[in-house]
Amino acid sequence: MTVTAVTKVPFFMHDLGQAELDAVAEVLAGPILTTGEWVARFERRFADYLGVRNAIAVTSCTGALHLSLVALGIGPRDEVITTPMTFIATATAIIEAGARPVFVDVEPETGNLDTAMIEAAITERTRAIVPVHLYGQMCDMRAIRKLADQYNLMVIEDAAHCVEGARDGVRTGQLGETACYSFYATKNLTCGEGGALVTNDDVLAEKLRLLRLHGMNKNANDRHKEGYKHWDMTVLGWKYNMDNIQAAMLLPQMDRLNQNWEKRRTLGQYYEARLWDIPNLSRPRTLPGVDHAWHVFPVWIGNGLRDKVIDELQAMGISVMVNYRAIHLLTYFRETFGFRSGDFPVAESIGDATLSLPFYPDMPCEHADLVAEALTRVLERRW
Ligand SMILES: Cc1ncc(COP(=O)(O)O)c(C=O)c1O
Repeated sequence: MTVTAVTKVPFFMHDLGQAELDAVAEVLAGPILTTGEWVARFERRFADYLGVRNAIAVTSCTGALHLSLVALGIGPRDEVITTPMTFIATATAIIEAGARPVFVDVEPETGNLDTAMIEAAITERTRAIVPVHLYGQMCDMRAIRKLADQYNLMVIEDAAHCVEGARDGVRTGQLGETACYSFYATKNLTCGEGGALVTNDDVLAEKLRLLRLHGMNKNANDRHKEGYKHWDMTVLGWKYNMDNIQAAMLLPQMDRLNQNWEKRRTLGQYYEARLWDIPNLSRPRTLPGVDHAWHVFPVWIGNGLRDKVIDELQAMGISVMVNYRAIHLLTYFRETFGFRSGDFPVAESIGDATLSLPFYPDMPCEHADLVAEALTRVLERRW
């Protein structure tokens, strides 16, 4: 039986405060709560930060992935290559677009899509690759782009964990047709629920703007500025537009993005120094050339002990998560696509071992000490 104690060490705490309250108050004092100038300002700021031409703010990363696939013309009978070591949304967005997710196993050192294994999964139906920059470590985008160009495939980056990351001088969004971001409650930038996608292709950006709002060629902000004018619906779209309230929460956080990244990096390095010699505990490796975004702090617990460790830590009031159990083994994927244990052995072994520790910019070092002491006590015990 799992005993849940009063939480002493929370998994995550956002740092939203007065700046966000002031910004939201300003939106509430104005006439446009839905998509308007605040969203446009956030989009400009986010695109500039990433060094890309266009950002389109939406209501979730799931929506951003779905819109990207649809806008790029991916649909029924198409195959899209992705990783089973991710949140379910990466694959469900592919299914929502009508296409089939084709999983490729991951690298044992990082948990990221194994670039060397992608080629063997390409068929005449393959249209795109969706790499996920897991935990904040970017996949080898130069290699993925090269392969995609060789086979005439598109690349949609799932950058939900990787706003701040880079690899070999490349940022997210710079080599993919699009890159998709999440502003979910525990993400590095958050407005509770929200997302964005970026693209360097101006024509695609225009299409995406239409598709995120029903395919309508005017929005409420246009009506407010110009007065009512008849509008048209030119394509079938969805309802994925971010509103001004969400954008107002996000904008002040852009000022703290680098500072918060540095705080998480310092905390991550502190944890690493405390955890390196604990038996049955290892960590994903940060590869040369990678500037890690430090989104999630996972440890890998060997010898089948992970679930026992979860119970023990939770009983001590330490809140933890699992990112992720390999998704092809979840009931829906097994039943729909016939996946079985052994199909993607590296993802499965990471999925059985991985445990995400409490991790956020203002987390006190004393909490990291408590977590490290608890892990040492639990894992040094004989089972
Ligand atoms: C890797 C990854 N992809 C996609 C998503 C979906 O993001 P959202 O909740 O914004 O739809 C998440 C959210 O946790 C994620 O971690």
